[in-house]
Amino acid sequence: MAHDENKAFLRRVPLFAGLNESQLETLAAGSARRSYPKGRTIVAEGETSQSMFILLAGRAKVQRSDSEGKEVILAVIGAGEFFGEMSLIDDAPRSASVITIEPCEFMSVSKEAFKSMLLQSSDVAMAVMRGLVRRLREADRKIETLALLDVYGRVARVLLDFSEEVAGERVVRNKLPRQEIAKMIGASREMVSRVMKGLEIDGYIVPLPEGRLALREKLSNYIS
Ligand code: CMP
Repeated sequence: MAHDENKAFLRRVPLFAGLNESQLETLAAGSARRSYPKGRTIVAEGETSQSMFILLAGRAKVQRSDSEGKEVILAVIGAGEFFGEMSLIDDAPRSASVITIEPCEFMSVSKEAFKSMLLQSSDVAMAVMRGLVRRLREADRKIETLALLDVYGRVARVLLDFSEEVAGERVVRNKLPRQEIAKMIGASREMVSRVMKGLEIDGYIVPLPEGRLALREKLSNYIS
């Protein structure tokens, strides 16, 4: 039963769209579905790896920390995205930790099943490469942001990246704690609070109920 359910889930995952029935069978045999609450570590930086994962629902942050415990958030990933594949490909330790920031549902796929699909299906291999290339493009953009923008620009870029169009307005729908913004741009929480206050006073952002934020068009002046 669980096997059939796993197969049905895997069939809907874009990464595995090119697989035939028997390949999906093999993959389902090496897969398990899991639910985690907010704040749980799915993958720990530095550990050896046995699985990769596909996020079915919820969001998780990809983060690294130094020996003093200072943290940097590399990315926030959402439903439909995969993670934990890098260490399966190069057999190095996990490159970062992946921690749930909302209740999450995900599928784990064993190293053996994932590697066998990579070798059997050029569609899967291409989809994995596309995912890696997308991440490299995002990392390039992040390096540019950190190197060329001041703190106002960096905060503006994070807010715009996390915003979506709602009824003709750009809105950050999910609460974005200042501490988390700080970890994304290499600034202190106090600095982010000061910048956000400044943006609010000058009418670049407008606080809405439940921690949401409306962004005014002129906010993009900070990043151009
Ligand atoms: P792995 O190294 O196995 O474990 C940590 C995972 O975090 C890694 O595989 C990737 O799936 C993911 N990851 C690492 N760096 C980034 C990044 N810059 N953006 C998105 N995901 C990442």
